[in-house]
Amino acid sequence: MTGAERTARVMARADELGRISEEEGRLTRRFATPALVEAGRVIAGWMEEAGLEVAIDAVGNVRGRNGVAGAPLVIGSHYDTVRDAGRYDGPLGVLCAIEVAAALGETAGPLEVVAFSDEEGTRYAVAYLGSSAYRGRFEPAWLALEDADGVTMAAALEAVGGDGEAATRQVGEPIAGYLEVHIEQGPVLEDEELPVGVVGAIVGQTRIRVELTGRAGHAGTVPAALRADALAGAAELVLAVEEAMKATSGLVATVGELVVEPGAANVIPGKAVLSLDVRHAEDPIRDGAVRELHEAATQLAAWRGLALDWQVLQSTASMRMSATLVESLSSAIVPEGFAVRSLVSGAGHDAVIVGRDAPAAMLFVRCLGGVSHSPLESVEEADVAVALSVLERALRARAQASA
Ligand code: GLV
Ligand code: MN
Ligand code: MN
Repeated sequence: MTGAERTARVMARADELGRISEEEGRLTRRFATPALVEAGRVIAGWMEEAGLEVAIDAVGNVRGRNGVAGAPLVIGSHYDTVRDAGRYDGPLGVLCAIEVAAALGETAGPLEVVAFSDEEGTRYAVAYLGSSAYRGRFEPAWLALEDADGVTMAAALEAVGGDGEAATRQVGEPIAGYLEVHIEQGPVLEDEELPVGVVGAIVGQTRIRVELTGRAGHAGTVPAALRADALAGAAELVLAVEEAMKATSGLVATVGELVVEPGAANVIPGKAVLSLDVRHAEDPIRDGAVRELHEAATQLAAWRGLALDWQVLQSTASMRMSATLVESLSSAIVPEGFAVRSLVSGAGHDAVIVGRDAPAAMLFVRCLGGVSHSPLESVEEADVAVALSVLERALRARAQASA
């Protein structure tokens, strides 16, 4: 198969996966849903076609080995999505990994392709469920978390043939390293007219569930001074989050979900539940921002007569990529005739989990307008061709060096 045919197959498969969704008319494929299971089966079939020995683990990670014994180099990405997603965030890396594994076969040395079942954390707010299980870091407490419909993670997994208990017992097997292709999700490569770039570091992130409880009441009868309006408190917190972000260089903080109860036009909101996502490349700055926001939430809740529940669901340290693997990718870009651009990733990736145990690096692919987490996500076929070629060259060089 030629490089052009492989690239065309990646694009066609991204389209095919893009049609496997929980929702009619838009792409949403969250953890432990029938849509995710179906996509996993399709990916497993493609891995088998590529000559890999395939296994699906207790949380839906799809793993394919090339049959060469030894601690493998792992290549892959995730296949879950956000709500109303694009086709490439995650699947592009999985599909490129399958192509390169198919092209190299056993000549790659010990190789494992992994499609992780959750990187986004869309359903349970906790991200990296797939790579955490893969590396033996799946926390038992996560199984009790509930989704927006009150379904626990344990029940959701059981309903699709998974096994939460077994996930907590999975161990991280020895691996030699981790490489991941992913769309950039930002505008830098497009601005600099480069098809690919190499990630130098991935920011750390903290995810928090904030619950403000006040007093529900009649919208027509309770005067201002006697109200404890949970949504008004939540609104103040959202603005405090925005202020904190503006005041600290490099900090990004987002309230992406807000649930108001009871949620009626003529009822004072009695409860508001918010998600809070805080990120910075420097962990102490992120930790400091989280402390300050907690303090701000405590103060505003006190003066508004609200009860505050502040639950840190996840705190993931930033991750510097391996200098050796960054060099492998960089050397593989040079023959393509492009400058080597190093990028810091503001998005989270499975590499922050897998990279705790082994050297890790990522290759970013330019995406149109830097747009991601949107159905408008788009990549050029020619850029995917470059990514495939770079990944394959890097793997060949690695295999030759260790032969
Ligand atoms: C995943 O895309 C994240 O950065 O949250
Ligand atoms: Mn992603
Ligand atoms: Mn994403």
